[in-house]
Amino acid sequence: MIFSEQEVLDLYHRNPEELCRQAEVLCRNTYGNKVYLRGLIEFSNYCVMDCLYCGIRKSHSAVKRYRLDHEMIMAIVRKGYEAGLRTFVLQGGEDPWYDEAYLCRLLENIKSLTRDQCAITLSCGIRPRHEYRAMKQAGADRYLMRFETADPELHQYLRGGVTLKQRLQALDDLKASGFEIGSGFMTGLPDEKPDSLIKNVSLCKELELDMVGIGPFIPHKATPLAGAKQKPLSEALYAVAMVRLLLPLANIPATTAMGTLEPDGRERALECGANVLMPNITPAEFKKEYLLYPDKICLEESGFECIGCLSLRCRGVNRELSFEIGHSQSFMNKGVYYADKKS
Ligand code: 5AD
Ligand code: FES
Repeated sequence: MIFSEQEVLDLYHRNPEELCRQAEVLCRNTYGNKVYLRGLIEFSNYCVMDCLYCGIRKSHSAVKRYRLDHEMIMAIVRKGYEAGLRTFVLQGGEDPWYDEAYLCRLLENIKSLTRDQCAITLSCGIRPRHEYRAMKQAGADRYLMRFETADPELHQYLRGGVTLKQRLQALDDLKASGFEIGSGFMTGLPDEKPDSLIKNVSLCKELELDMVGIGPFIPHKATPLAGAKQKPLSEALYAVAMVRLLLPLANIPATTAMGTLEPDGRERALECGANVLMPNITPAEFKKEYLLYPDKICLEESGFECIGCLSLRCRGVNRELSFEIGHSQSFMNKGVYYADKKS
């Protein structure tokens, strides 16, 4: 079943419960009852950016900054690989301390440690264009870079002058370099327009994304948006459902921000068309310094403990964790992955 944007929009307005039901059906048609796991490694909380919403923005001087070096990251990956994880997401602030050579050596060593049996996802912001190619060549498979909001004025205001156009250009460059591409947005940002949610969802479709990360904005008290009102989780859940209907083959995570806002937020996202979970395997002493938003969950747990917890949570909504590499079906269909492997 292919849904048009108009049909999705009508369903959202007329019967949002039905929207979620249809999204779950479609998700099961593509991915069965499988929920893919990704091991998240927050490798640096240094950031040159000053986004108004973010708890590790440059101006937040009370943050205890850390960088995980090559050896520490390799040790985390080794442990994750032994635990069965087959995708590692290296996420950090925009931190030029990690130059091209450093990142490429890291990527090559992760690939050889895991005998080419795992996927590596990078999420470290806008970098010089030539680096994307080098990182792809060195073994990175996927890149996550949310556009955050499709509203150009709001984007520029929230992101310290960086334009939506620049963000979209970076996504284009990444795509041209052969990456499996993920982007997405926050719901409930302050000063959104009534049609912002729809515009965000439409942009995901327009970009033909392979992965879509959606999370509720949660105001952080040490940022300029401290006084913003918390919007309900439902907006994020409906966004997941709409994106699933428009991009049936995409990988869509049930995000940590959803689980932070409501105790069963991630399970509810799985029931609205999400099919990915991302346990945070950053060592506890560092992950507590990576607070993009307050009250983040799983700070005391090791990430490996989370896998057990997530397994139970999945069963609660009639799904099963999968330890497969879990490329998005849309990316597999594009044939890039195979073409790349042959060369
Ligand atoms: N609330 C929720 N999500 C946030 N992010 C950053 N700050 C916040 C916040 N206060 C999200 C952004 C970013 C991702 C890594 O985390 O969408 O892309
Ligand atoms: Fe981390 Fe439940 S998922 S404790």
